Amino acid sequence: MITEVSSAVNLRYSKLAETSCCLSCGGAINHSKVAEGETCVDLGSGRGTDALRMAESVGPEGFVYGIDISEGMLKKAEKNAEKLGTKNVSFLKSNLETIPLEDSSVDLVISNCTINHADNKQTVWNEIFRILKKGGRFVVSDIYSSEPVPEEYKNDPAAIAECWAGSVTRELYAEQLNNAGFSDIHILEESDPYPKGEIEVASWTILGIKPSGCSCR
Ligand SMILES: C[S@@+](CC[C@H](N)C(=O)[O-])C[C@H]1O[C@@H](n2cnc3c(N)ncnc32)[C@H](O)[C@@H]1O
Repeated sequence: MITEVSSAVNLRYSKLAETSCCLSCGGAINHSKVAEGETCVDLGSGRGTDALRMAESVGPEGFVYGIDISEGMLKKAEKNAEKLGTKNVSFLKSNLETIPLEDSSVDLVISNCTINHADNKQTVWNEIFRILKKGGRFVVSDIYSSEPVPEEYKNDPAAIAECWAGSVTRELYAEQLNNAGFSDIHILEESDPYPKGEIEVASWTILGIKPSGCSCR
């Protein structure tokens, strides 16, 4: 579904695809311990850098999906895969709220500075839980806001696309993870608060595991 937020995100990131500016807010991939043969997903794969690194680590028996909503980013990521001759990667155009992958089919989900953009973050976390195999893990770098984002900015597509107006507080972030079924969350990195746009945010990298014993799918 194309919403006002997703069109603003598409426009902004399609312009940024050909630049080399850093779009990350943490080191998710550095904490991911990707193993040979694994199936991995990068949500908001941008220019494809992390997905391509994972494709090398999983080797020919593994596979990586990069998911992104921006056509410019997807094209750039595909070009980069072609340049490197990487075959075990596929870049899919999709909103994070409807991930086009089977239930319980993925060992590892990573994401860097993307979930804050989503219209419905609870749905995104539910989707991450759904696609992970039991015992599968996520490593996500993202931002959260120190205080709830003021109403005047909350629904401003341009400010959401700039990575701040869509952020939720640390408490709400934890609640959404818990609602999705992730009960044991490890904080791997966490910054001090810093100003961004009109608000104050902090960045963190978190790890969670889909419980092996859950009676979920
Ligand atoms: C800040 S960039 C980060 C890119 C990459 N992860 C990195 O660290 O370089 C955010 C990326 O998420 C994508 N994105 C934002 N909202 C999205 C959504 N709702 N569904 C899918 N992709 C989204 C953008 O197109 C962009 O490529």
